[in-house]
Amino acid sequence: MKPKVLVSRTIQERPLALLREHAEVIVNPHDRSMTLEEIIAELPGKAAMMAMGGDPVNERLLSSGKELKIVANNAVGFNNMDVEAATRLKIALSNTPDVLTDTTADLSFAIMMAVARRICEAERFVRAGKWVGWHPNLLLASDIHGKTLGVVGLGRIGAAVAKRALGFNMKILYNDIRKVETGLIDMLRAQFMPLKDLLANSDFVTLHVPLSSETRHLIGREELQQMKKTAFLINASRGPVVDEKALVEALQKGWIAGAGLDVFEWEPKVSPEFMTMDNVVMVPHIGSATFATREAMSFTAAKNIIAALKGEIPPNLLNPEIYK
Ligand code: GLV
Repeated sequence: MKPKVLVSRTIQERPLALLREHAEVIVNPHDRSMTLEEIIAELPGKAAMMAMGGDPVNERLLSSGKELKIVANNAVGFNNMDVEAATRLKIALSNTPDVLTDTTADLSFAIMMAVARRICEAERFVRAGKWVGWHPNLLLASDIHGKTLGVVGLGRIGAAVAKRALGFNMKILYNDIRKVETGLIDMLRAQFMPLKDLLANSDFVTLHVPLSSETRHLIGREELQQMKKTAFLINASRGPVVDEKALVEALQKGWIAGAGLDVFEWEPKVSPEFMTMDNVVMVPHIGSATFATREAMSFTAAKNIIAALKGEIPPNLLNPEIYK
């Protein structure tokens, strides 16, 4: 008899077919997230679960499946998972690094360009039928090329954003609590700065840190006040890295020039003040949302599950302690 696997959202056909070669797969039949109670009711008897980044993989969920070997997150971020509880319960956890790096960097760059060049505002202007002809001062905006980009978190995605910035002849500053390889720093011609100096010297600040107790509200009132009045904040990491109330205040009071946001502190709820701000570009957490990348992420999650079902070490294991 094949082991049973719960997949908490409908995923692409090909990774699902791969999973079905190794397991009896139960997919959430609804076109919405499963509630914690629904997952807990489904988990008994399941050897694995493929979770989405928004699923609360907490101690209650983890202890409801006595046969559970692995919960594979279909996301690179795993702030939704209680790693300590899973380790204690000897359940493997995995994520999907690498496959979404470039796609997420593309999106970060896209919202940076969109907010600097007022693309969404300009598009709304055309659609509203307001364009009556060329005007020397119509929708004047900020340059991107040659400006200074401050990358907070020079990991895989942060470095991929910085590589793109080199093509725009941007100067790169970075801050990271981990040591960054010298080869990468040299290639990017990047300069390390303490956060407050990076904020004070950047024309664009782009956030690429994982969400943890250390990075929650990393950017708050004080940090926003340290930024240039002409600078833009870009966030395609996790919403709570920014104190969203402080960001609203910063935009209202003109402490910064604008923001490009893929993520929000209370998503899918968005601060209502943003709705009327033309200098905020908002997209609904679509950093990794391309056909190819979402499929690659599902394949990665499926492969981690298959490895765990075979008694092998999952390739993207987050808690190696369980095998010690
Ligand atoms: C998306 O936000 C992810 O973490 O993969």
